[in-house]
Amino acid sequence: MNRIVQNSLASALFSGRPVGIAAAIMRSALSYGMNAIDLTTGNGNDTLLLARLCVHGQVFGIDIQPEAIAESRRLLAENNANATLVCDNHARLFEIIPRELHGRVHGIMANLGYRPGGDPNVITEPETTVSALNLGAMLLAKNGIMTVVCYHGHIGGAEEARAVTEWAEGLPSESFTVQKISILNRPNLPPELIVARRI
Ligand SMILES: C[S@@+](CC[C@H](N)C(=O)[O-])C[C@H]1O[C@@H](n2cnc3c(N)ncnc32)[C@H](O)[C@@H]1O
Repeated sequence: MNRIVQNSLASALFSGRPVGIAAAIMRSALSYGMNAIDLTTGNGNDTLLLARLCVHGQVFGIDIQPEAIAESRRLLAENNANATLVCDNHARLFEIIPRELHGRVHGIMANLGYRPGGDPNVITEPETTVSALNLGAMLLAKNGIMTVVCYHGHIGGAEEARAVTEWAEGLPSESFTVQKISILNRPNLPPELIVARRI
């Protein structure tokens, strides 16, 4: 890890923004030719980050909402970046990601909840989220990293965050290191970040 990446990881950590910390972790882990997946492409910000980091690799952005795919397509085009956008349920991850990439994915991001500026009723759900995370963990290459940002503030968010924590706690310690970053002194249920790395 070079000094600039180290510094940006440290400043993201101290900013206390889980989304920014997840992005900084991906910046430190991903580079040219690697493969990555955004499990919830939303407005396309994380997919764009992955596409910029993994030039000449394969990047997938998945979202269940056509509006999210359209918005992400617009953002990628505006920034001259490439990713394969798929409008589907991320619980179908094994069918979506080509077989030759299974075990060869270096970064997976999941920013849960609803799309900012979009329909707040379309939110990630515990059961499909945990299925997608489980499958994602199986797709990771050695040293591959998965980041999951969980929100407690919306209806069903706390239940989903609990399900994700339970899933993460159950990952075998001989195959994964798993950490949770949560802000302990902020009111209004701040989001938290789970980071799993395949050993
Ligand atoms: C918080 S937003 C993601 C933000 C995004 N990563 C970005 O950078 O803008 C969460 C997204 O998850 C999507 N979503 C909800 N359930 C889903 C599912 N089962 N499969 C795929 N996407 C889903 C929503 O449509 C929404 O766009």
